[in-house]
Amino acid sequence: MKRSLVALGLLFLISTAAPAQQASDTVSPERATGLAAAKIAAAREHMVAAAHPLAAEAGEKVLADGGSAIDAMITVQTVLGLVEPQSSGLGGGAFLVYYDAEAKRLFTLDGRETAPDDATPKLFLDDKGEPMQFFDAVVGGRSVGTPGTVMLMQEAHKRWGRKDWKDLFSPAEKLAQDGFAVSPRLAKLIAAEGDKLKSFEATASYFFGADGAPLTAGSILKNPAYAETLAAIARDGASAFYSGPIAEAIVDTVRMSGKNSGVLSLADLANYQVKERRPVCVSYRALDVCGMGPPSSGAVAVGQMLGLLENFDLKALGKDNPESWRLIGDAQRLAFADRERYLADTDFVPAPIKGLLDKTYLGERAKLLDGDKALGDDAVSAGKPEWDHAFNFGRDAALELPSTSHFVIVDKSGNVVSMTTTIENGFGSRLMTNGFLLNNELTDFSFKTHDEGMPVANRVEPGKRPRSSMSPTIVMKDGKPLLAIGSPGGSQIIGYVAQALIAYVDWGMDVGEMVAMPHLINRFGTYDLEAGTDAEKLAEPLKALGYEVKSSDMNSGLHAIELNADGLKGAADPRREGVALGK
Ligand code: GLY
Repeated sequence: MKRSLVALGLLFLISTAAPAQQASDTVSPERATGLAAAKIAAAREHMVAAAHPLAAEAGEKVLADGGSAIDAMITVQTVLGLVEPQSSGLGGGAFLVYYDAEAKRLFTLDGRETAPDDATPKLFLDDKGEPMQFFDAVVGGRSVGTPGTVMLMQEAHKRWGRKDWKDLFSPAEKLAQDGFAVSPRLAKLIAAEGDKLKSFEATASYFFGADGAPLTAGSILKNPAYAETLAAIARDGASAFYSGPIAEAIVDTVRMSGKNSGVLSLADLANYQVKERRPVCVSYRALDVCGMGPPSSGAVAVGQMLGLLENFDLKALGKDNPESWRLIGDAQRLAFADRERYLADTDFVPAPIKGLLDKTYLGERAKLLDGDKALGDDAVSAGKPEWDHAFNFGRDAALELPSTSHFVIVDKSGNVVSMTTTIENGFGSRLMTNGFLLNNELTDFSFKTHDEGMPVANRVEPGKRPRSSMSPTIVMKDGKPLLAIGSPGGSQIIGYVAQALIAYVDWGMDVGEMVAMPHLINRFGTYDLEAGTDAEKLAEPLKALGYEVKSSDMNSGLHAIELNADGLKGAADPRREGVALGK
C-alpha cells in the first residue's frame, strides 16, 4: 500500500479542525507500520509529542498541572522506560537540547553513557585481534556503558524543574504497579528476537510467559521492580541509582552475564557526570538549526548536509525531482565521510568542529556536487577542514542500528525540550535488572582501533563516550524557537532529521507532512528508499544517475512541535505508536 501525500494533507486539515486536546489514539497495526498520516495536534499553551500515548498523556498532565517542560520530560522518560522499554530508559543515556525561555538561550546536556575505567581499546576485538561480530558484542555485559539518563534527569530538574522531584515519578510508578497493555509494536519486537531476549533469566521471565511464549499485544504487563526503582530515585534522588543496592545490582548483572561479561564497576557509577556542552548551531536559509555536538555527530552532520545544500536551490528543484535527491544523497555521503574520520568524544580527541561547519569549507566541498551524476565512491572521502585542532584520524567502522526514542515538549512559559534517549539496540544488551534494561551503547564505538596505521577517533577508551548520531534539534528564527524535532534510527537519524528540515524549509511542508514524508537516505553509496512508499518511484531515476538503490523498512520516530504565531502544532511519526497532545 502506498501512502499518499494528498490524503495526508486532507487528514491534516481534518485533524487540525478537531478540539485542541487530542484524544490519545488506539494504535492500530497500520499506524505502527507507517501506512497512515502523521498524528497531529494543535494547541495554544503546551504540548508533548512522544513515542507512546501513555507517555505523552502523562507528560501533558504534568504540563496542565503547571509543571515545566523539564518536569514533563522526567515523567515522559520514566513512562517511556516502562511502556517502550526496548528503546530507552533508566539503563541508558540521552541528549537534551533545551531552550530556556527566561534566559532566552539554548543549553545542551550530555547524559551519554561512558566506557568503564577498566575498558580498553580492544574491548570489541576477538582473540585473534579481529572485530567481533556485532551481536556477539551486543548481547551481555561487555557492551554496557555507565548509564546517564537518571543523572541527566536530576541535573535538568535542579536547573529548570518547577514541581517536586518525587511527584514526577508517580505516573510511571503507578502504571508499573497496575500494569499497562503491551503495544503492538512491543509485542512484534519481542516475538521478532526471542532467542536473544531469552539469553538471560530476568529478561526472559519479563518478556515471555511461563510457557515460553512472547507477550502478545494487549496483554497486561506489570513491573513491580521498576516501580520500586522509581520509588527509590523519587525518594533519594539519583544517588539511589548510582550507589547502593541498585548500583550493586547493575554491576553484578554486567559482570556475571556469562561469556560476554563486562567490566563496569561501582566506581564508574559513582563517578558518572552529566556534561553541559556548547550547542552546535548552523544557519540554513533564514534559520538557525541548533543541536547536540560531540560526543554526538548529529548536529555537525546535519549542519554539514544543510551547509552543502544551501549552495543549491532545492525549492526550485522540488521534492519529486531526482536532481534534488542526487544533491541530498551525495551531501549526506560527504558529511558521513567527514563524520567517520573526525567525530568522536571531544574530551578525548580534538575534532575540527568549527572547520567542518565553516561556510567556506562547505562551499568549496559543495563544488563536488556540481556534476550531474552520482559521485563515485572514490570521490567521497573526508575533506580537509581548517585545522583549528585536529589530527588525521583513521576511518571509523562503528555500526549503529536503528533503535532509540525522541520526544519534544513545550510548556506554557515557552520552554522547549528536544530530547533523544536510548539504550542503543532494540532491548539494549538484553540484560535486565531492577525492572529496566541495560544499554549496549559501547557498541557505538568503532570496534577497530586503527585503520591503515592511524588510530580511529571513535575507538574505545576508558571514561570516553561513544559517538552518537542522535540529533535532538531546535530550529531558531530571529533568536526564538520555531521548531523542535528529532528521531530515533541509529545512523539514519541524521538523514531523517535533515530531510525533515529540508521538507519544512525548502518545500514548505507543515509538521505533519514533514514527519510522514517517505524517506530516502544515502549514507555510504547505496540509496535506501522507504519500502511501500512513493520513495520507490524514484528508484529508476536514481539508478539512471548511477546509484545502487535498495528498498528498506525505515523506522524513524520523528516527533516535532512547531511554535508559530497561532500557537503550537505537533506531529508524531505514523511509523511508530506515538501521539502529539496539547492544550
Ligand atoms: N545509539 C544510537 C545513537 O547514539 O546514535
